[in-house]
Amino acid sequence: MADFRSDTVTQPSGAMKERMLSAALGDDVFNDDPTTLELQRYAADMLGFEAALFAPSGTQTNLIAMMSHCQRGDEAIVGQQWHTYKWEGGGMAVLGSIQPQPLELQSDGTLALSDIATAIKPDDPHFARTRLVVIENSVGGKVLPLQYMRDVAALAKDKGLACHIDGARLMNAAVAVAPEHGITPQQMARELCDGYDSVSLCLSKGLGCPVGSLLLGSNDFIARAKRVRKMLGGGMRQTGILAAAGLYALENNINRLADDHANCRRLADGLTTLATQLPALQGQLTALPVQTNILFTDIELPLAEQLLPYLAERGIKLTGSNYQSANGHIKRLRWVCHLDISSADIEQTLQAVAEFAHRTL
Ligand SMILES: Cc1ncc(COP(=O)(O)O)c(C=O)c1O
Repeated sequence: MADFRSDTVTQPSGAMKERMLSAALGDDVFNDDPTTLELQRYAADMLGFEAALFAPSGTQTNLIAMMSHCQRGDEAIVGQQWHTYKWEGGGMAVLGSIQPQPLELQSDGTLALSDIATAIKPDDPHFARTRLVVIENSVGGKVLPLQYMRDVAALAKDKGLACHIDGARLMNAAVAVAPEHGITPQQMARELCDGYDSVSLCLSKGLGCPVGSLLLGSNDFIARAKRVRKMLGGGMRQTGILAAAGLYALENNINRLADDHANCRRLADGLTTLATQLPALQGQLTALPVQTNILFTDIELPLAEQLLPYLAERGIKLTGSNYQSANGHIKRLRWVCHLDISSADIEQTLQAVAEFAHRTL
């Protein structure tokens, strides 16, 4: 079985579970859970921040960040497709009374610097106070490059705004671009965060933990964030059992993300080859470029409606969304590679697609 729906589906490994079972525990709301304190220190040191805060989910660390940077009536600049804007139930508006100012994404996943600058409102009672810029990296599997990250941070600083990274998959971005900078993924991640006021880092995606996300920032910011976490119901007690998984993941599961990226590229190349060679797929299936662990493929809708159940019957799960192109109705399928997808799973998946194409002809 290959579950490509998300990298959130990973199961904790035996070694991770052992670490969890032997974790020293306290009460994190009283700030005395030793394993949680150790995880927060470890992550803050790795990414170059003063402090960190453990919370149940990436949605919550993002919301805590936005509510800690902004007051009621402030505004946050976001991307139309950012998770913080589109996929978190409108939490910043509903729970934070923060006005989102969404901007269109460029094809490389960035927000144009000129669009950000133009969106910043003058200090005028007609307008919400622009207070925060949110960036997502990686975004839809694309990596926002180091220079771009620095340019956004510099722009925000110049305009007196705070800036936050939704780094749910920051480590995927870091692993992808570290080689071209000649540094380790950990050093790369630190560079990508340089100049930002806060970052949210998910432990339960590619890093393979069952639960958890970290918010990183200055001591003052994390003190404010802790109050917001409590208000949102995210203050948990014997969190060491979860933090131990986080420590295991940060120590062992960062560099191996390169395997997921290689699997994803192999899947893209294999599907492209099948789409070239097999008449049933010719002109019907296009694999979009892969930078990290997420591949999107565009498939003509009628074919996709046959392919998805065929794969599901063979235990191959994936998600997709429909859109209308100039040439007709398309299904864009999302294939996410992760810790629990092996290279053998990739070959079996390609084999299943090839068999489907032979039968369909
Ligand atoms: C980019 C991004 N940010 C934040 C989140 C939220 O994480 P969680 O599911 O832990 O709330 C996700 C989840 O998929 C995500 O993809």
